[in-house]
Amino acid sequence: MSIPLLDLNRQYDTIKEEIRDVIDEVLESQYFIMGDNVEQFEGEAGTYCETKHAYGCASGSDALLLALMAMDINPGDYVITSPFTFFATAGAISRLNAIPVFLDIEKDSYNLDPKQVELFLKKEHPVYKKLDPDPERIKAVIPVHLYGQMADMDPIMEIANEHGLKVIEDAAQAIGATYKGQKAGSMGDFGCFSFFPSKNLGAYGDAGLITVKDPILAEKTDILRLHGAKPKYHHSIVGINSRLDSIQAAILSVKLRYLDEWSEKRKEIAHTYNELFRKAGIVGDLNQCKDGCSENCGLETNSIITPTETTGASDRSGRHIYHQYTIRTKKRDALARVLNAENIGHSVYYPVPLHEQECFSYLGYKASDCPNAHCASRQVISLPIYPELKEAEIQKVADTVISVHTS
Ligand SMILES: Cc1ncc(COP(=O)(O)O)c(C=O)c1O
Repeated sequence: MSIPLLDLNRQYDTIKEEIRDVIDEVLESQYFIMGDNVEQFEGEAGTYCETKHAYGCASGSDALLLALMAMDINPGDYVITSPFTFFATAGAISRLNAIPVFLDIEKDSYNLDPKQVELFLKKEHPVYKKLDPDPERIKAVIPVHLYGQMADMDPIMEIANEHGLKVIEDAAQAIGATYKGQKAGSMGDFGCFSFFPSKNLGAYGDAGLITVKDPILAEKTDILRLHGAKPKYHHSIVGINSRLDSIQAAILSVKLRYLDEWSEKRKEIAHTYNELFRKAGIVGDLNQCKDGCSENCGLETNSIITPTETTGASDRSGRHIYHQYTIRTKKRDALARVLNAENIGHSVYYPVPLHEQECFSYLGYKASDCPNAHCASRQVISLPIYPELKEAEIQKVADTVISVHTS
């Protein structure tokens, strides 16, 4: 039995006819860029994400870039974000010659730690002393909702408001996730979504969406993706070419109707994994894992840590959409070897945190500046999770993980 990390064919098989019909309609119309299909999807996605303004664009990376451009991020400005994310989050900041400020994550949720942001903005964080920024030039914070779970948004919003910073939610992995009943992308000034094919809502190519709270910034975002033109061929600002294709929009409209069902199925699978691991007695206590741990991590060698769904403050509840099911273990290399031998897909998101990437070495970070991100990058491993995964496959994945942690 071979179990891929993700098998998009299985999903396609269930919606093939609907998808082919809408693609045919676009082909018959010969209208490929923007247009009615895009407007329709923007309306549906805006309603789904509980935001007033939603604009399709070419990718999640562009959504981040457009948000930063809309708020006039200039060379030399500082933007705070998580070091434990896909590169695009920080890449967008650097593309504008602004400076990413990496602050550590919470070790349970893997998301940006609001306490670190607060310390930084109060000028009490060691990273503040290292970067010595002009406080006037600290402009924004980008919390990332990693693996499908939202960051602790209330304190992040509160600190950002207090210091006059804009908040851009990197919701690329979290469409449909909630935090205290509020949808991802509806809380910050901007929300950035990716429809990369492997996402919970995946297009058949690159695609993205940006949600915007303020109507004036919304209008600016709308034209920034069209080279800043309004009306056509009249440019008051310089934008980029980042449009959504009609074919992708039509596909996304079909798939959006299934999204909640798919995400609930993912959650069921996550809970099944959790239960199988718990029954096998291999689930450890994250409190054993000391801040800053790595080789000296207190986590027992034969224990794993399963994903935490509601973390941090006790009143922090939300919906995890399980874009990834990620465990942590000190036996990651051994586990990967056995998973490979059993033909079970797996991946490490992410093996090198951004504060340790060569391209950011000019910032002068040490690994220990973000100890939780450093430690997570050495211990996390993601297992197959998709709605079509069969019971026997879930059991096989779990048995394999259990066997490595009981021998
Ligand atoms: C957290 C995060 N941010 C941004 C992106 C960029 O999205 P895209 O690949 O659509 O450009 C991704 C997608 O992989 C992501 O996971």
